[in-house]
Amino acid sequence: MENINWGSLGFGYIKTDLNVRSSYKDGKWGPLATTADEYISLHMAATCLHYGQEVFEGLKAYRGKDGKIRIFRIEENAKRMISTAEYLCMQAPSVEMFREAVTEAVRANERFIPPYGTGATLYIRPLLIGSDAQVGVNPAKEYMFLVFVTPVGPYYKEGFNPIRVIVDRNHDRAAPLGTGHVKTGGNYAASLLSGREAHHNGYPGVLYLDACEKRYIDECGAANFFAIRDGRYITPCSRSILPSITNMSLQQIAADMGLTVERRQVEFAELSTFEEAGACGTAAVISPIGVVFDPDNDRKYTFGDGVHAGPWCTKLYERLRAIQWGDAPDPYGWTTVL
Ligand code: PLP
Ligand code: COI
Repeated sequence: MENINWGSLGFGYIKTDLNVRSSYKDGKWGPLATTADEYISLHMAATCLHYGQEVFEGLKAYRGKDGKIRIFRIEENAKRMISTAEYLCMQAPSVEMFREAVTEAVRANERFIPPYGTGATLYIRPLLIGSDAQVGVNPAKEYMFLVFVTPVGPYYKEGFNPIRVIVDRNHDRAAPLGTGHVKTGGNYAASLLSGREAHHNGYPGVLYLDACEKRYIDECGAANFFAIRDGRYITPCSRSILPSITNMSLQQIAADMGLTVERRQVEFAELSTFEEAGACGTAAVISPIGVVFDPDNDRKYTFGDGVHAGPWCTKLYERLRAIQWGDAPDPYGWTTVL
C-alpha cells in the first residue's frame, strides 16, 4: 500500500477492501458473503441497539520475514465469542464458521497486512449483533456476524515503553457477577468515562480494582494485569476479568521459561512488592507498567526505573512476538499459517 506509513500507524480504523458477513435467520446461518460496504442496514428496534446484544473479538494477523501470514489463536477467539454469546442469549457462529470468516477477511485484504519489520499488524475485529426488532427485553431471533480488518500500530503510543496507570475507585467496568468475563460492548461503555478522566490527568491506563471491596486488582484498561516477583508470574483471577488469550499464552511461555505461574486474587496492597508489572492483550501485546498512581492515597508505585521495561517483561514480550511473527518455531500450535 503505497500511501500508508506503516511505521507510524496508531491504533485506529483505516478502510480496507472487503469485510465478510453472514446473517442468522429462521434458525440458520446464511452463507458468508464478502462486501466492500462499510455500513450495515439495521432495524431501529434491533436488540444490539437497545439491549446491548453485542459481542466483539480482537485478534491479529502478522506478515513474517518468510512472507507467510500467520493468525494468532483463532480458535480461542472463536470459543470466547461463543461463550460471550451464550451469556447474552445470542446465536454464535461455530468455531469453523468463525475461522472461515476470519481467514477470508484476511485473505481478501492481503495488501493491508503490514510488511515485516514495521511493527504494525493487521487487527481483525469479528462482531456479532442481535439484529431483529424486539421492544420487550428479549433476545433477538436474528443475528448478524461480520469480520472486518484494519492495519494497526501500537495501542499505547508508548509502544513497548512503560505506561503510566492511575487507579480508579470511582467507577467499575463490571459488577462482581456481571459481564466482566465476557467481551461485550457494555463493559467498554462503562469504561469510557474513567478512561477519559485518566487521559485528562495524563495517564494512558486505568487500573480497576474489584467492584465489591476495592481490595483486589482486577484489570488494566482493556488489558489484563500481570506482575513479576521472586521468579513468579502473578496474574489476578476473578469472575469480572476478561480471560485474555494473550495472558493465557504468556502464562504458558512464563512457565516454560521457568517462572512459577500464580493465577489468584491479587491484593492491591501487594503492588509495592512487585518487581515488574505489565498490561497484556491483543491490542496492548505487553505494555510494561512504569508507574501506578493511587490518587486517593496520593501514592505512586514505580516499577524498575519507571521508564524502561524490566527484564522479564522484555523476555516474555520477545518470545511472544517471535512466535506471532514466525521468527521462532511455534511449539504450541497457536498460529494458523495462511
Ligand atoms: N481485558 C479486556 C477488558 C480486553 O478488552 C482485552 C482485549 O481483548 C483483554 C483483556 C485482553 O484479551 P486478549 O489477550 O484476548 O486480547
Ligand atoms: C483487544 O486487545 O483486542 C481489545 O479488544 C482491546 C480494545 C481495542 C477494545
